[in-house]
Amino acid sequence: MLVKSKRGWELPERDATPESTYANRRQLLRAMGAGALLAASAVPVASAFADDPAGGDKDDPSAKLYPVKRNDKYKLDRPITDAKYSTDYNNFYEFSTDKELVAAAQALPIRPWTITVDGMVEKPFQIGIDDLLAKMQLEERLYRHRCVEAWSMAVPWSGFPLKDFVALAKPLGGAKFIRFETFMDPKVADGQNQPFYPWPYIEGLTMAEATNELAFMVTGMYGKPVPKQDGAPIRVVLPWKYGFKSGKSIVKVSFTDKQPRTFWQDLQESDYGFWANVNPAVPHPRWSQATERVLGTDERVPTQIWNGYGEYVAQLYDGLKSERLFA
Ligand code: MTE
Repeated sequence: MLVKSKRGWELPERDATPESTYANRRQLLRAMGAGALLAASAVPVASAFADDPAGGDKDDPSAKLYPVKRNDKYKLDRPITDAKYSTDYNNFYEFSTDKELVAAAQALPIRPWTITVDGMVEKPFQIGIDDLLAKMQLEERLYRHRCVEAWSMAVPWSGFPLKDFVALAKPLGGAKFIRFETFMDPKVADGQNQPFYPWPYIEGLTMAEATNELAFMVTGMYGKPVPKQDGAPIRVVLPWKYGFKSGKSIVKVSFTDKQPRTFWQDLQESDYGFWANVNPAVPHPRWSQATERVLGTDERVPTQIWNGYGEYVAQLYDGLKSERLFA
């Protein structure tokens, strides 16, 4: 784990790792992984994506679909982050725990790409990404993204509402949760050769969260196909939750009546729980969540509860006050 430049919320790894975890190597390595969420990189260099006017991947047959019409309902309170920052400063542990992983991520083959839909659905099925794109009405949305590490960005994502995907999947009445699984291919993603991480990357939501209007399946970014480092060819985006809930490069969507165990719960549940809704008043065990560093300008601004999306999502949690909703 590298800490290349220290900022206010960063701690040396030995300070960030609870003493008890030193006793156990496996736990220590896991804590290092989780601690790596603290790492910030040096100033990003220009992104391959931003430099490529043809799109994120010239071989991507979906390139012709973009740009798509913006849905103006979702407004930003700040400028859009320059693509050279948001597509060049990434968390994608499959490729690296370092933020500079653009080159490594290019090894991911994104065609053919098949998504399996299974579990509590009328009929399990598989669908290729291009067939899925043909079925969905694509739109662009401007959302803020808040990472648990206390950096943020504002991004024009393209994609379709997750609730449209849920409708396509036809879940059974008893389904209470949705589970997302990222690809598993240690040959192309070297991080997956590190056995102390609980691969593959799993995330989950309640059905009420998944069918909330904000929940978005992202296939594009800045009017082009989403680049590999940002989760090509399809990822989740949940703007009221910390970014780790937004799984990238999804290959399986399952419906279940049991709350899924997530990658981060398996790695370090004390720090990264199932709900992970943004709340400036609830600090991470090792740093404050009160403010965030805006990528590109490095300005520090106050963080808002539900990342500012409370009018859409706060009511989802009315009956869940006893849960650990914010960490
Ligand atoms: N999805 C997978 N499969 N692997 C990851 O390491 N990192 C998460 C999330 N989704 C991650 C992931 C975290 S911590 C964040 S903040 C966002 O992706 C970062 O998305 P970005 O790199 O597009 O900014």
